[in-house]
Amino acid sequence: MPDTETFITPLLNVPADAPIQFFDLKSQQKALRPALEKRWSDILDHGRYIGGPEITEMEDKLSRLTGAVDTVAVGSGTQALILPMLAFGYGYGDAVFIPGFTYNATANAVLLTGARPVFVDIDPHTFNICPLDLERRIAQVIQQKRLKPRAIMPVDLYGMPADYPAIKAIADKYGLQIIADAAQSFGGRQKGQWVGTLAEITATSFYPTKTLGGYGDGGAILTTSKSMAQTLRSIRWHGTGTDKKNSIRVGLNGRCDSIQSAVILEKLTLFEEERARCLKIDSLYRARLGAALPLQDCPVDTYSACGLFTVRVPHRQKLRAELADWGIPTAIYYDTPLHRMHAFERLSPPGGLPACEKAAEEVLSLPMHAYLSEAQIHRICDVLLDCLKRM
Ligand SMILES: Cc1ncc(COP(=O)(O)O)c(C=O)c1O
Repeated sequence: MPDTETFITPLLNVPADAPIQFFDLKSQQKALRPALEKRWSDILDHGRYIGGPEITEMEDKLSRLTGAVDTVAVGSGTQALILPMLAFGYGYGDAVFIPGFTYNATANAVLLTGARPVFVDIDPHTFNICPLDLERRIAQVIQQKRLKPRAIMPVDLYGMPADYPAIKAIADKYGLQIIADAAQSFGGRQKGQWVGTLAEITATSFYPTKTLGGYGDGGAILTTSKSMAQTLRSIRWHGTGTDKKNSIRVGLNGRCDSIQSAVILEKLTLFEEERARCLKIDSLYRARLGAALPLQDCPVDTYSACGLFTVRVPHRQKLRAELADWGIPTAIYYDTPLHRMHAFERLSPPGGLPACEKAAEEVLSLPMHAYLSEAQIHRICDVLLDCLKRM
């Protein structure tokens, strides 16, 4: 159930037959343009395109908003995953457990550190990592003695926080770290806490279509550890300390620039209102489609960031084509699970990952953003239900 704020935030009053966008960055930009232009002008005046004051301002705001102890801005969501693994010193022989149904960046990030991703099947109802399969695969790795289990990297798919209480219990039992891949879930909540505080380390992405997106690449690591934040700040600037030309550890250019931070700062002014509207859209979709189609389940006391609204459908290609004919854009996230991608298939577990494979065949994402009206959601649902009846 969405929280109460959902019901006091009205949706836009757009007619049902207005064009429907899958994402709508243009309407949001219109609302923010004067404030953004003031930000550009400030940046042009101070000239600190790298390391400008907007970065600390954004980091502080994100920490205050989420309750994270510290936030470290980086150049992308992928960097936000890689940097903590470098900080922990993961490398050859280390195992990081990740779901097999996610964006390829999750696996790439692990492999780029030299560690090995171990694919875990998903819970078919939440699309997130399945705690039962996770524990089974950790036990297998321990028994095989070829890899050392180091971390679990849950992904909050479509914006829905994974089952952190269950994952944390497993992590504690086996002495593993949790690095949350929250690229899709900034704004989500669980048991009264924001994404960003559900694990010691949370990586998020500012890719433009994410729930908190910039106008280019960017990302952030939210952490509950001050000393981790300090190490991450060093790694993101070539492993330096106060002297930016003298490395005290190995690092890279992992910086977020002033312009992207300024975009995020202005987007934060709309964030809560947009999120409330998206929650309302989510509940409308659930009320209209819940009896006809399998939807993404919420774990107990969990609120999605509403990055994507995804259902399982029969005859997906045909249905997509029909919806497109009616002016309803849809998308598929994802049609190939990681262990079936050429780059990662050598890591496929024997027997595959049945729930990931089935999801990849069935999922379909519907338009989801704060600039849709109630009338448009009803139009999408009417057309979708009508198409389903005729299939
Ligand atoms: C689950 C997941 N992880 C990681 C990333 C990587 O983020 P970025 O594109 O900002 O590097 C993405 C981006 O789409 C993602 O969806």
